Amino acid sequence: MSTFHIRLGWGPTGNVFWASESTCHCLAKLCTIILFIQAMNFLAAAQNSTSGLQLHIRDKEVVVENGILQMTLSKPGGVVTGLQYNGVDNLLEVLNEAPNRGYWDLVWTAPGITRKKGAFDRIEGTNFSVIVETEDQIELSFTRMWDPSLEGKLVPLNIDIRFVMLRNSSGFYTYAIYEHLKEWPAFNLTNTRTVFKLRKEKFHYMAISDKRQRYMPLPDDRLQGRGQALAYPEAVLLVNPVEPQFKGEVDDKYLYSIENKDNRVHGWISTEPPVGFWQITPSHEFKSGGPFKQCLTSHVGPTTLAIFHSTHYSGAELIIEFKPSEPWKKVLGPIFIYLNSLVTEDDPLQQLWEDAKQQMETEVQSWPYDFPSSEDFLSSDQRGTVTGRLLVRDGYISTEDIFGNGTLVGLAAPGDAGSWQLECKGYQFWTKANEKGFFSISGIRPGIYNVYAWVPGFVGDYRHDAEVTITPGCNVDVGTLVYEPPRSGPTFWEIGIPDRTAAEFYIPDPNPNHINKLYVNHTDRFRQYGLWERYAELYPYNDLVYTVGVNDYRKDIYFAQVTRKTGNNTYQGSTWQIRFTLDTVGKNNTYTLRIALATAHVSELQVRINDLEASNPLFSTGQIGNDNTIARHGIHGLYRLYSVDIPGAQLLEGNNTIFLTRALSISPFQGIMYDYIRLEGPASSNNESLGSSSWGYK
Ligand SMILES: *[C@@H]1O[C@H](CO)[C@@H](O)[C@H](O)[C@H]1NC(C)=O
Ligand SMILES: *[C@@H]1O[C@H](CO)[C@@H](O)[C@H](O)[C@H]1NC(C)=O
Ligand SMILES: *[C@@H]1O[C@H](CO)[C@@H](O)[C@H](O)[C@H]1NC(C)=O
Ligand SMILES: *[C@@H]1O[C@H](CO)[C@@H](O)[C@H](O)[C@H]1NC(C)=O
Ligand SMILES: *[C@@H]1O[C@H](CO)[C@@H](O)[C@H](O)[C@H]1NC(C)=O
Ligand SMILES: *[C@@H]1O[C@H](CO)[C@@H](O)[C@H](O)[C@H]1NC(C)=O
Repeated sequence: MSTFHIRLGWGPTGNVFWASESTCHCLAKLCTIILFIQAMNFLAAAQNSTSGLQLHIRDKEVVVENGILQMTLSKPGGVVTGLQYNGVDNLLEVLNEAPNRGYWDLVWTAPGITRKKGAFDRIEGTNFSVIVETEDQIELSFTRMWDPSLEGKLVPLNIDIRFVMLRNSSGFYTYAIYEHLKEWPAFNLTNTRTVFKLRKEKFHYMAISDKRQRYMPLPDDRLQGRGQALAYPEAVLLVNPVEPQFKGEVDDKYLYSIENKDNRVHGWISTEPPVGFWQITPSHEFKSGGPFKQCLTSHVGPTTLAIFHSTHYSGAELIIEFKPSEPWKKVLGPIFIYLNSLVTEDDPLQQLWEDAKQQMETEVQSWPYDFPSSEDFLSSDQRGTVTGRLLVRDGYISTEDIFGNGTLVGLAAPGDAGSWQLECKGYQFWTKANEKGFFSISGIRPGIYNVYAWVPGFVGDYRHDAEVTITPGCNVDVGTLVYEPPRSGPTFWEIGIPDRTAAEFYIPDPNPNHINKLYVNHTDRFRQYGLWERYAELYPYNDLVYTVGVNDYRKDIYFAQVTRKTGNNTYQGSTWQIRFTLDTVGKNNTYTLRIALATAHVSELQVRINDLEASNPLFSTGQIGNDNTIARHGIHGLYRLYSVDIPGAQLLEGNNTIFLTRALSISPFQGIMYDYIRLEGPASSNNESLGSSSWGYK
């Protein structure tokens, strides 16, 4: 049956009314009446949008509307229970209990809180207040204050959750202020986020980036009978989904993770009527762990998350530990929930996604926002700017300094180089340097920071040693910063690209029975489920051997050094070999092996030179990592760089082998990923080895 659309297109958001042909399988007269009523509703909505905002405070709920959408919140809880938009009475899952629709939550631990992964707290306020009510803005606050009588029962935080609706805005903002006061007990925070659960009857198409969007299965498809849990419960094989098109696919929320730096807009589209629900992140300053930290986005539910802090792809090192009496306050957000509907009828999916991206650009341009009224959210004039330029100095690559083209430069709490990837209590401010290495970061909150940088294509992390103090309105020029990446001599050989990921190595096809169609013929092949199992299929008895000058790392280095299953519940480690030839060896000289890891999960990496039987390895990392990147289809977790000195006496003129043993093996998800491996010769006496080394530089 074809559908006929009656569109009364008007207004900033392109409000659209739909009537299906079946509506008119009635008397023409009745049809006319229905259409007339719809038109009247529409005009009423249009009038509201020009007459400003409305707030209705009732006994147990608060309703705020601006003529474009209407939002209902529980009072004093501050849970979003209703979102009326574009003729749909509620975009949120009406099948869920009201408190389980749109909310903030956190997971915390403290002595005596015994749940294995900590206590889950779906935050509900105990006090409601109207902060702003003007014709341009309504801002509501839902607070939950802590006092010592709540010790051991509630997380020791004062929490203030805000909702803001602006006039003529097709959505709403939410942010929160968390505060831990002096004299308050210690606790750990492992996760905090906002959650929106949409109607499964309507929202079937999910989009998280241009290349990562698809029709999604239903939550029902994951249940027993329709779905079969795979190696862990989050991964489900759809054996009998409601829609047969999904049969045989794997669903897992971790297939849809994204790095903070790329997490700008994601959400869901309903096609009947065509409506988009989008979570827009205008800034990452309040997110934990810096630009490469990966978090969940949207997933089957249909659910849309804004994760401010989690330990995913990082592990326990990212748990935020608060000491007793440690004062702390942080503003999380605002994030924007944007709703859109069709302007024309062509290609609704593309149109709604493109419009959402455009709105995202608008939000990013408007940062820092000027409307949040909490004094803890700082406006533009209360913030400062840092400018400068970054160059790279590596005499073995170029006699001249190299422009830090595309360098990620950021400010974060003072610490060691690279410490930002574990930094969660404060704010971080990042930008990308231009092709000449110049950068400018504005909107920085006052405070003391280090300037950090990561240069694509170079190992290691940069930190400018002098701390930078930001004051309101300041413009600090840090001048020309020079990064001298770790380097002791010329490159003899290198494997991979220093990009903090293992993406350039060999990534196998998934088991044909465990495919997610989105990632077939996709740039992100590594996101398929179960790739860890394929190593043992490719290398059933002997482990990987890589010969420099013969093999190609794109084809011959498996993307992860994982365990091999040997029995029902037994696994073994592996030793990879790198074989290479040296024409001459300075026995008194020191050679350097640089090993950059893209992730590690409960692993120990041992390095032996030319003697696998050596009882003591030349180098061991010790047990490292809890990133869980392998099980979660990531291509990196935390970055780790090791530099191993190799005495010339251990090297041979002729063939040499470096043995890379990964020990500790009791589960399929243990392993490491290499980012990059390089062997450097001894420093040349005049440090002008470029071209003078018989090894050259590729
Ligand atoms: C409403 O917003 C749209 C774009 O979002 C803008 O074009 C329009 O001028 C605004 N109208 C009013 C009355 O502010
Ligand atoms: C916080 O976590 C760390 C590491 O997991 C643990 O050692 C510590 O006891 C925890 N502290 C609290 C207050 O739970
Ligand atoms: C992947 O690409 C191959 C070759 O280009 C094509 O035959 C196949 O249909 C594609 N598969 C999907 C799921 O797009
Ligand atoms: C694995 O378990 C099955 C069933 O218990 C058993 O038949 C099989 O021999 C076991 N295989 C190994 C390698 O232990
Ligand atoms: C290496 O060191 C030893 C002991 O210090 C010395 O006797 C020898 O001459 C050195 N060899 C070279 C080639 O420098
Ligand atoms: C050195 O390695 C090469 C390539 O792996 C091999 O062909 C050659 O036989 C080896 N030479 C010796 C002396 O082992």
